[in-house]
Amino acid sequence: MRSLSLASGAAATLLSGLVSAAATGAVPRSNNPPHYIATESRANSVREAFLVSWEGYEEYALPHDTLKPVSDEFEDDRNGWGASAVDALSTALVMREWDVVVSIIDHVESIDFSTTKTEVSLFETTIRYLGGLLSAYDLLDGPLADELPSNYSSSVPDILKQAQRLADNLKFAFDTPSGIPDNSLFFDPPRRGGSETNGLATIGTLVLEWTRLSDITGDNTYAELAQKAEGYLLDPQPKDIAEPFPGLLGGNVRIDNGTFTDGNGGWGGGTDSFYEYLIKMYLYDKDRFGDYRDRWIAAVDSSIENLASHPTSNPDLTFLAEWRGKTLQFSSQHLACFHGGNFILGGLTLDEPKYVEFGLRLVDACRVTYAETLTGIGPEVFGWQDNKLPPDAENNPPAPDGQAAFYEASGFWIKSANYVLRPEVIESYYYAYRATGDVKYQDWAWEAFENINKTCRAGSGYSSVKNVNEKDGGGFDDFQESFWFAEVLKYSFLIHNPDEPWQVKADHTNEFVFNTEAHPIRIFGGQETRVG
Ligand SMILES: *[C@@H]1O[C@H](CO)[C@@H](O)[C@H](O)[C@H]1NC(C)=O
Ligand SMILES: *[C@@H]1O[C@H](CO)[C@@H](O)[C@H](O)[C@H]1NC(C)=O
Ligand SMILES: *[C@@H]1O[C@H](CO)[C@@H](O)[C@H](O)[C@H]1NC(C)=O
Repeated sequence: MRSLSLASGAAATLLSGLVSAAATGAVPRSNNPPHYIATESRANSVREAFLVSWEGYEEYALPHDTLKPVSDEFEDDRNGWGASAVDALSTALVMREWDVVVSIIDHVESIDFSTTKTEVSLFETTIRYLGGLLSAYDLLDGPLADELPSNYSSSVPDILKQAQRLADNLKFAFDTPSGIPDNSLFFDPPRRGGSETNGLATIGTLVLEWTRLSDITGDNTYAELAQKAEGYLLDPQPKDIAEPFPGLLGGNVRIDNGTFTDGNGGWGGGTDSFYEYLIKMYLYDKDRFGDYRDRWIAAVDSSIENLASHPTSNPDLTFLAEWRGKTLQFSSQHLACFHGGNFILGGLTLDEPKYVEFGLRLVDACRVTYAETLTGIGPEVFGWQDNKLPPDAENNPPAPDGQAAFYEASGFWIKSANYVLRPEVIESYYYAYRATGDVKYQDWAWEAFENINKTCRAGSGYSSVKNVNEKDGGGFDDFQESFWFAEVLKYSFLIHNPDEPWQVKADHTNEFVFNTEAHPIRIFGGQETRVG
């Protein structure tokens, strides 16, 4: 692909208007993929933020999990195996920051995954550590193989061995009467936390990583465990509780017999990535995961029909409500804003422009949650009043005291004002751009990155902030989540970067699928492209 260096968003917009008028706004046919524009100066600014964050982490936190950038201290919130290093690896790889890559590989080889002092989350460990290691293996065994410094080529199989050791230490989580895993584990000695239930997302966001591990190693145990658990989510019981709308499920499942205990859900935290992985599994392998595709279609059709909601003060916006049984709650989250990108990916995968178009509407509404705050960053939780239900309906309250004017002007009100370096809004801009080639989405991603850089840059890195609607972010929480490396910096970089084998494609030529932590996983039977 052609690569351009442009200093400003306005210039990029103007130029792409000239070279690619057809791409703007339209949903492309898959036989006519969009033309992409690379903007090296923007990509390099994101790279600079990555290196600043990495150097702060390396100096003050490695081999611990997380940098506290204001106090220059560390925290072991992910079992002390160096979560930020493992989460940063696939981003360092797609940025070709080889000095960082080899430091992380040295660290990976030193991790002892058999021991930890603290509780292990099966879900968090799978998406961050297992996903990060599998992605590094897939990139280094695939398109980046020839670019790794040659004295490290013998380390590539070791990365896979570490992934397998980790999964071997985790797999007793599935040793329950139903096969629904316990999300909570302890290692010394190995024992389950003993929960009675597990959550929809924490059960349903394992299957990509565990299937991939089996497909690479040839040991089918891992895939069988994750797919057996997923089976209870594909056929949820009892029907009257578990599935209030077709394809849209409750939030918690009994570990003893695999039945749902409630019908409360949404596209936000706790349930979100279950839906995300349904279509991603189909993209991963169309032969094995057709029933996952069918359940994704049921969920998105039902969401369009039953959950789409427009705020009274800005009816052009489309949000998705949450549900408590069949009762809707007009509330959403930064976390849920991945949904636009997921609808778009599904639309591209299934050749259904209606899903791409609906996804783009969700992206527009999530952008408003950024554009209308004083920092230009969206809040953690927001609400609105639905314009179809009566304003006196019990589940349709007006804006709370003090936010009526903000709601009138914007279309949402703020329920939790903090920002913890989450990626979902920029993630959806990335999918929107890859689907349409419309540089508007690159400009939005750049604007969001500039605002995060301005508000969250703190001490030796970047920090969570307390209030996105105060000019300076309302103060720092002194915490740099590992997904800052894995997700925010990766999507912010890739959207301005030339086409590459790991980029999302609009024309059915995907070679990778991103796990929910933005680690690119090689699609089953994907091409063995090598670049460089
Ligand atoms: C690989 O080579 C570089 C110098 O080219 C050296 O700094 C590094 O220690 C070597 N690493 C290993 C694992 O041999
Ligand atoms: C699962 O367990 C719950 C609670 O003990 C029970 O009410 C329900 O009938 C069981 N369902 C099945 C299918 O065994
Ligand atoms: C990010 O912030 C740093 C430090 O304030 C500044 O030097 C840099 O230019 C900023 N980058 C962007 C893209 O705004």
